[in-house]
Amino acid sequence: MLVELARARRTVRRFSSRPPPVTAILRAIEAAKEAPSGMNAQPWHFLVVTDPGIKRGIREACEAVERRFHARVQGKLKGWLAETGITPEKPFLTNAPFLILVFARTDAPYWLQSTWLAIGYLLLALEEEGLGTVTYTPPDPTPVQTLLSAPMVYKLQTILPVGYPTDPKPKYPRKALAEVATLNGFVRPAPEAPAQPREGGDT
Ligand SMILES: Cc1cc2nc3c(=O)[nH]c(=O)nc-3n(C[C@H](O)[C@H](O)[C@H](O)COP(=O)(O)O)c2cc1C
Repeated sequence: MLVELARARRTVRRFSSRPPPVTAILRAIEAAKEAPSGMNAQPWHFLVVTDPGIKRGIREACEAVERRFHARVQGKLKGWLAETGITPEKPFLTNAPFLILVFARTDAPYWLQSTWLAIGYLLLALEEEGLGTVTYTPPDPTPVQTLLSAPMVYKLQTILPVGYPTDPKPKYPRKALAEVATLNGFVRPAPEAPAQPREGGDT
């Protein structure tokens, strides 16, 4: 069941060096490209990296922008980063056997919504393959775009390091259904506990 797959999925930032078969990666991308998109424009591009030199270049570019980002970050996000131990170091960009970089073609209608739908499909498809990933979003994607000679019309959305998980981090809790879903309006109670109709019917 899809709901079980979604419940089991968690973010993974540490990976085994044992490489998964490339066919598993391609099957997951096959699923992602089946996502719906505005005007069926399919504005996504999936760039798979296995070359250690290219991975190193991506990591260096990302860590440079991360250092600048961490120096100026404030408020809630600063607290979250400290709490979760997220630093400018991104070892998963060189340690994961595969990187999947997802680009969006920005001249397509609804390019942002459509590409993130495909990313959602991809995350679940990777889970089904027994693979882990983190939706890593570099604070400034420009240096990586330049490094990979991405055409100007494409904007990097996320870098997914992919491999067999070795991360002990548990999944963080999710809100209950009743907290995030309502029926027939933005009010409680939620669908899992619908109000009983009053005797004599509603007036
Ligand atoms: C849009 C988006 C951006 C994210 N950006 C980052 C990121 O830049 N770095 C990172 O380590 N995790 C990133 N994450 C991962 C989230 O922190 C993670 O999904 C969330 O904490 C839930 O973790 P869990 O699935 O393990 O419970 C991102 C997730 C999403 C959906």
